[in-house]
Amino acid sequence: MNIKSICCIGAGYVGGPTMAVIAQKCPHIKVTVVDINQARIDSWNDKDLTKLPVFEPGLDDIVKERRDKNLFFSTDVEQSINDAEMIFISVNTPTKTYGKGKGMAADLKYIELCARQIAKVSKHNKIVVEKSTLPVRTASAIKNILDNTGNGVAFQILSNPEFLAEGTAISDLLSPDRVLIGGDPSKEGQEAMEALMSIYANWVPRERILTTNVWSSELSKLTANAFLAQRVSSINAISELCEKTGADVAEVSKAIGMDSRIGSKFLKASVGFGGSCFQKDILNLVYIAKTYGLDEVADYWEQVVLMNEHQKQRFSDNIVSTLYNTVAGKKIAFFGWAFKKDTNDTRESAAIKVADNLLNEQANISVYDPKVAEERIYADLEYLNSRSEDETRKLLKAQNDPYKASKDAHAIAILTEWDEFKNYDWKRIYDNMYKPAFVFDGRGIVDVEALEAIGFSCYKIGSGRNRE
Ligand code: UDX
Ligand code: UDX
Repeated sequence: MNIKSICCIGAGYVGGPTMAVIAQKCPHIKVTVVDINQARIDSWNDKDLTKLPVFEPGLDDIVKERRDKNLFFSTDVEQSINDAEMIFISVNTPTKTYGKGKGMAADLKYIELCARQIAKVSKHNKIVVEKSTLPVRTASAIKNILDNTGNGVAFQILSNPEFLAEGTAISDLLSPDRVLIGGDPSKEGQEAMEALMSIYANWVPRERILTTNVWSSELSKLTANAFLAQRVSSINAISELCEKTGADVAEVSKAIGMDSRIGSKFLKASVGFGGSCFQKDILNLVYIAKTYGLDEVADYWEQVVLMNEHQKQRFSDNIVSTLYNTVAGKKIAFFGWAFKKDTNDTRESAAIKVADNLLNEQANISVYDPKVAEERIYADLEYLNSRSEDETRKLLKAQNDPYKASKDAHAIAILTEWDEFKNYDWKRIYDNMYKPAFVFDGRGIVDVEALEAIGFSCYKIGSGRNRE
């Protein structure tokens, strides 16, 4: 089957960049990204490319090149579904905030809505591709909804999980380690897989396109994220031990990473992992394990999340105890709010929890992040419901300049590893702060020796150099 038209439901961090790259690499295919959020679609269509709703290095150039040629952004969901031969579902699947599985299971209401909408409007046979990360066996639920419409349209469901990481989405999409496609072993299923494979084959070598059954594909996505998150929690657990023993976690990471069986990636100690996937996917895995009565399996993976919570908590506790056990009324500058560098995404960012803890202690917080807007920061905190909106807005302000953010501060907390933080005029920052001036580096990115030479008192995550 030769695909000429694709529709992607969900113009978010995954749908937007993924479809932009498909459009660039397959100029013969019409790609339409639809979303129920009109403001988001308007931003994707904005002439000013700095207004795109997703910040990803290199994305603006591709949108500029392909938009209105074979890449379209629209809110006309039904028409676009019907026009397409292949439909990607890329809507969000947040952790449930109500009912059974609250705080753990994935909320599939948007996925079900999409399936019902596809069923309702489709007049021709279609291939439906799960891009969103879903609990194992979701495909069968989608298939059930689609197959019971009674309008004679045949659907094939494929699982094609996304492994791109934010901040490097475009390069991850252009040269993926692998593309995973899960499908039905039937003849029709194999044909659908072949159709999707031939799209990726426009730029991905065939040997990197891996096919499996649907359940393996769905479970592989959850497992990949659980393993990655586990590495971060493992090294973060060691970071605390380093601080007590006089070891340095950066040295430990390097030493163990050179073992080719372990490998060097994802061993950077931090204030805690964030992002829309890790916590959600592990909780999802935990919930699935519990559902099958596998309590030991569930407990094993849950510990990765608990360790992450601990890492955030001990970072803020350390700020309070270092500042003479009180931060009430003291200004603390946050450098970074995004969950990692090179993205404007803040979902589950460690900064949110650290800020919430310090606001509970009545600190004044001044945030500078190169890509995150003030209203996003307020929305992140308001979602926690820890205090009134007025109180949050009184205690926390965002600044668009790091020197302003740190002026008259008692301490700076580095929450995101933005490269620009390394190159500031730290002497100027020091001169404008209260003394002693503290830096708490939650990402291990600044040169603490150079900062201490200026006069700063420094804490660096995982470094035992200042132990008593
Ligand atoms: C993705 C994946 O799809 C998710 O499974 C993964 O675990 C996290 O990353 P992401 O692209 O980051 O989600 O989500 P988001 O940026 O929130 O985008 C989803 C979009 O879908 C939103 O713009 C939302 O408006 C849209 N949406 C949601 C619809 O168009 N229809 C719906 O019914 C629900
Ligand atoms: C992740 C997966 O990497 C990706 O394959 C999947 O599709 C979606 O989830 P993402 O959430 O965008 O991607 O970012 P990732 O680079 O994995 O980082 C997640 C968090 O871990 C960030 O907060 C990051 O700062 C943190 N991290 C990562 C560390 O603290 N240390 C590390 O060594 C690596």
